[in-house]
Amino acid sequence: MKLKSLLFSLLAASVVSSAAFAQTPIVIKFSHVVSVDTPKGKAAERFKELAEKATKGRVKVELYPNSTLYKDKEELEALQLGAVQMLAPSLAKFGPLGVKEFEVFDLPYIFPGKDVLSSVTEGPIGKGLLKKLEPKGIVGLGFWDNGFKVMSSNKPIHMPADLKGQKLRIQSSKVLDAQMRALGANPQVLAFSEVYQALQTGVVDGTENPPSNLYTQKMHEVQKHVTLTNHGYLGYAVIVNKKFWDGLPADIRTELDGAMKTATKYANAIAQQENDKALEAVTKSGKTTVYALNDKERAEWRKALLPVQKEMEGRIGKELISSVNKEAAVLGYK
Ligand code: LMR
Repeated sequence: MKLKSLLFSLLAASVVSSAAFAQTPIVIKFSHVVSVDTPKGKAAERFKELAEKATKGRVKVELYPNSTLYKDKEELEALQLGAVQMLAPSLAKFGPLGVKEFEVFDLPYIFPGKDVLSSVTEGPIGKGLLKKLEPKGIVGLGFWDNGFKVMSSNKPIHMPADLKGQKLRIQSSKVLDAQMRALGANPQVLAFSEVYQALQTGVVDGTENPPSNLYTQKMHEVQKHVTLTNHGYLGYAVIVNKKFWDGLPADIRTELDGAMKTATKYANAIAQQENDKALEAVTKSGKTTVYALNDKERAEWRKALLPVQKEMEGRIGKELISSVNKEAAVLGYK
């Protein structure tokens, strides 16, 4: 009788513990630096919803927006160490990781239209770039769009020379450094979370970003002038820790891949409208003057910044730059 009850308790305990094991979800910590109310913030939320639903709760996605967990440089280190599993850093932030080719996206005027961008990110060029992350212990799952950048400062910006001598905050990309120098400005690398305060206290005079980032970080409250230069692009690569990803049960990985594909479509569908809405809100705030370049001014900006493409050939690779230009030609751009 005693033996019977002992066996029964052992059996019951093993049922309980395997049930508990089955219920312990796989946690994906997804850290990012922007507000929830941006294309990236919204797409991350959509991914969480889709991933948790598709895996029936076997995966839990914890979102850490607005640099609440890590700032720019730290988040990449944290991903490599496995302290977080997923990030979506801007393409301008992969240089310090040793993958300089991602800076091709930062070249001024490299994308004459969003269609060229899509054929790059969704085609072999994009796939090839993501592959370069693997030796770093990172798997690239896709590209998320944000938008083309505006310039801001406390002084009016019409011609490139208007930024001469100004201290301008940039992301860690060497292409962005060259771009600001081509304007005669002094670039300064700062983490995204530090930009508002740096602008407010005058540590830097101005910066660049798509309107969605400018507005949600309230930069327009500390910048009197915004100019729609659209001189360069800002987008993201969604990345995961390779060891974590490869170690997932195959069925879970397939579900997460599917969720990521849908979230990516969503991200790319909302980016433009989110930026349009943000620009409208900036204009309505009355705190900053929004200026649209005329044709003559736009030509001056191109003249000042196009040489950066040639100057950066050594860093990015001539072939990569010309393969992007070829995509543009195929789509009918001259
Ligand atoms: C920036 O640092 O300006 C951007 O990369 C922030 C972001 O992630 O959009």
